[in-house]
Amino acid sequence: MIRIKSENEIQKMRVAGRIVAETFEVLAELIKPGVTTKELDSIAREFILKNKATCSFYDYNGYPASICTSVNSQVVHGIPNGKVVLKDGDILSVDIGACYEGYHGDAARTFAVGVVSPEAQKLIDVTKQSFFEGLTQVMPGNRIGDVGHSIQSYVESNGFSVVRALIGHGVGAELHEAPEVPNFGSPGRGVRLVSGMTIAIEPMVNMGTYHVNTLSDGWTVVTADGKLSAHYENSVVVTGNGPEILTKC
Ligand code: MF3
Ligand code: CO
Repeated sequence: MIRIKSENEIQKMRVAGRIVAETFEVLAELIKPGVTTKELDSIAREFILKNKATCSFYDYNGYPASICTSVNSQVVHGIPNGKVVLKDGDILSVDIGACYEGYHGDAARTFAVGVVSPEAQKLIDVTKQSFFEGLTQVMPGNRIGDVGHSIQSYVESNGFSVVRALIGHGVGAELHEAPEVPNFGSPGRGVRLVSGMTIAIEPMVNMGTYHVNTLSDGWTVVTADGKLSAHYENSVVVTGNGPEILTKC
């Protein structure tokens, strides 16, 4: 069942989303060679709790940290670790969820650590832009397939691939709600968008094959070919006046 949100619910999601966006601003200053992903996790957690919210991911299906930190060929759900020291040239995908008065905000960004290769920077830029290509299709009456098709076409025209095994989702009182929001698809297919729907659109883009594997920790998703991957996500509300990004920095 797709849960359409009231204005009151959307207001809570705006607060949750703003906390997520501000957490990215705090972390952006710290993402440099030498920092560990565990340090980023602790700082994010403190900031979210200080803002009267909780960490949506902590203990979600047993997830053992507050944020996800995925380095280089890690696609998503990398677990922060004191032994993972960021180094010049790495790319780091950070996924953050905050819950305020029972409503979640969910977003992800990929950061360059120090100076990265031109190809890595292009991957980061194409992944971010693919979200905005999808966003152009977010309006009442359009379908989920229109969004996914826009994302996929843009990514593939830039020579990269869209992960199939993981997808975006509705978001609200639950971190993951209906509908499913794939980053691929056919125009005119899938669930129809209506005002008040809240969805997390989250393209995961690989430099090589779209195939992925999960590591033995049960969480970390990596590219099957070991090439780089990037992630960009925002929680969005559908309205007749254009989409509103709830997790904007
Ligand atoms: N943004 C991710 C998602 O929507 C966050 C889930 S991570 C988990 O799937 F650890 F909480 F599972
Ligand atoms: Co998400």
